Amino acid sequence: MTQTHDSTKYRTHECGHVGLSDVPNALYRLARIDDEVRVTGWVNSVRDHGDLIFVDLRDRTGIVQLVIDPSDAPAAHKVAESLRNEFCVMARGKVVARSTDLINPNLATGAVEVRVEELEILSTCEVLPFQLDDENVNEEARLKWRFLDLRRERMFGNLQLRSHITQVMRRYLDARGFLDVETPILTKSTPEGARDFLVPSRRGPGQFFALPQSPQLFKQMLMVAGIERYYQIARCFRDEDLRADRQLEFTQLDVEMSFVEQEDVLELMEGLMQEVWKQVAGVEFDEPFVRLPFQESMLRFGSDKPDLRFDLEIADLTEAWSSTEFGVARGAIDSGGAVRVLAAPGGGRFSRKDMDEHTEFAKQFGAKGLAWFIVEEDGALRSPVTKFLSEDEQVSLKGLSGAKPGDAIFMMADTDHVVSRVLGALRTRLIEVLELVPEREWVFAWIVDAPLFEHDEDRDRLTFAHHPFCQPTPETLHLLDTDPAAVVAQAYDLTLNGWELASGSIRVHDYTVQQKIFAVLGLSEEEADEKFSFFLRALKMGAPPHGGIAPGLDRIVMLLAREQNIREVIAFPRQQSTFDPLTESPSQVDQAQLDELHLRAVQPPVPAKV
Ligand code: AMO
Ligand code: AMP
Repeated sequence: MTQTHDSTKYRTHECGHVGLSDVPNALYRLARIDDEVRVTGWVNSVRDHGDLIFVDLRDRTGIVQLVIDPSDAPAAHKVAESLRNEFCVMARGKVVARSTDLINPNLATGAVEVRVEELEILSTCEVLPFQLDDENVNEEARLKWRFLDLRRERMFGNLQLRSHITQVMRRYLDARGFLDVETPILTKSTPEGARDFLVPSRRGPGQFFALPQSPQLFKQMLMVAGIERYYQIARCFRDEDLRADRQLEFTQLDVEMSFVEQEDVLELMEGLMQEVWKQVAGVEFDEPFVRLPFQESMLRFGSDKPDLRFDLEIADLTEAWSSTEFGVARGAIDSGGAVRVLAAPGGGRFSRKDMDEHTEFAKQFGAKGLAWFIVEEDGALRSPVTKFLSEDEQVSLKGLSGAKPGDAIFMMADTDHVVSRVLGALRTRLIEVLELVPEREWVFAWIVDAPLFEHDEDRDRLTFAHHPFCQPTPETLHLLDTDPAAVVAQAYDLTLNGWELASGSIRVHDYTVQQKIFAVLGLSEEEADEKFSFFLRALKMGAPPHGGIAPGLDRIVMLLAREQNIREVIAFPRQQSTFDPLTESPSQVDQAQLDELHLRAVQPPVPAKV
């Protein structure tokens, strides 16, 4: 056992290790029976039995029971009488074995206790806003009292896991020659598709810094600078609506490499993820990660981040039903759309009401309607619309969807885009409501060959799908001039169990290609120059071929911690409303501060908490 710490003013041993014989990487010595110990921590509970007082003392390693006997230690007993939960205290005493009938099997230290000789209160605690073992405290209270919330074992475990994960990542990249380089926080807008946070400049009236949405342009300039292999555990800022997997500020493991092709980046990242899962979860993957072209993923799973733990697959009927008379399908096919189906295993038990609810759900995602069929025991299809289908169409419906007796089939006809979106969302919902059991625990998948541009419906023009610095594939590069919507990017996303974990691409390193991409996005040469002149200048100065990727750290930790929300793995996160009840930010500032920054509020400030 290594002993790296020798100070004994506050403690000689840690609570959770008292009486244990084997604790890997323990910071302090391990205490045995009859050892004199000094332990320090928080009062988890006090039980006053009149004469004996029992205290469960907790530090980050766990709990040990203290016994205070008035006949052994009258002064300590007097102190113990005033203890309340979460007081911070220090105790000195002797480790003793508990008699067999008093052993607590639920506690790692349950076979021993500390007979206290001296007890000192280091700091008292006011009445608690909630009990730390209460699992049902509302989130606002948890965040307002985050320093108490983080005292919970689960929360400490999550932070410990996060630290372990970044340590494994750093070690992996350090061993491969990557340099950890910091990039600025006060900078200029980088286009990652979200809204910027702006910081007013005191010295430049009317001028603003932007907080980085990611270090994208800086890491590319580091490649121009000849760094060749860069990483950074980087804080990113995006003013977007919060969801379970999004915060205004979040952390990426940002990586960039020179003289590489897509395959090199995928290999590096696959190795890194495998190392993290092995070290942190003890899981080893024998197979390489799945690779799915973007279009195929949309077609088969209706999503660019499919949850492949489940085999459910969308099937296309457009061909098979090319001469159908069923109105909605006919209409969609005639206008160049698609007819697709999704079988729901065990969906035969859905009631009419369930089907109405599924239809309503589909409508929220833009469906005009949703047809459903139930496959009866004899193979017959029960549905209000079976009568519109020919024998052949019924056969292809069952055959292509793969539905068996007892299953349901959902059918959608619309544009390719709407059908994918709706059936993709329905797939996720069906997995949940049918409580399907995953075939595998972790399924990583690379989504590759994504289009460089996508259609912005609001503005009716092309916008970038990922960011404007992705290099087109050699096969589609020439389409930039003639058919930009068909350009495929050397871009890749890493997904896991239905979550997008990482995004990256091979970058444009040729100035003329970069200008062409800006032109497709509607930026003239002058406008592009105005926005990114520093970067375009760099591209003209011997920029090496390069590429990279950025996994979202919060999401990785969330999944490994088996949490449902990234707030559970961030020490001080914000509420969904973007308000932080702990610091009560955002908040108003003094007029003097506004004056100094040359700012005037055009409407009276509203209370931040909405
Ligand atoms: P992208 O915008 O896809 O790519 O972000 C990369 C990864 O960061 C995580 N992420 C988030 N996590 C929490 N809260 C958010 N608001 C949030 N937004 C993104 C996701 C995502 O996969 N510069 C490029 C990377 C590159 O091309 O190298 C970028 O930022 O896990
Ligand atoms: P309608 O002709 O609109 O009365 O629809 C007939 C049936 O087809 C109803 O069960 C609808 O729910 C379903 N339906 C309507 N629109 C679609 C669609 N776009 N795709 C699949 N089914 C649809």
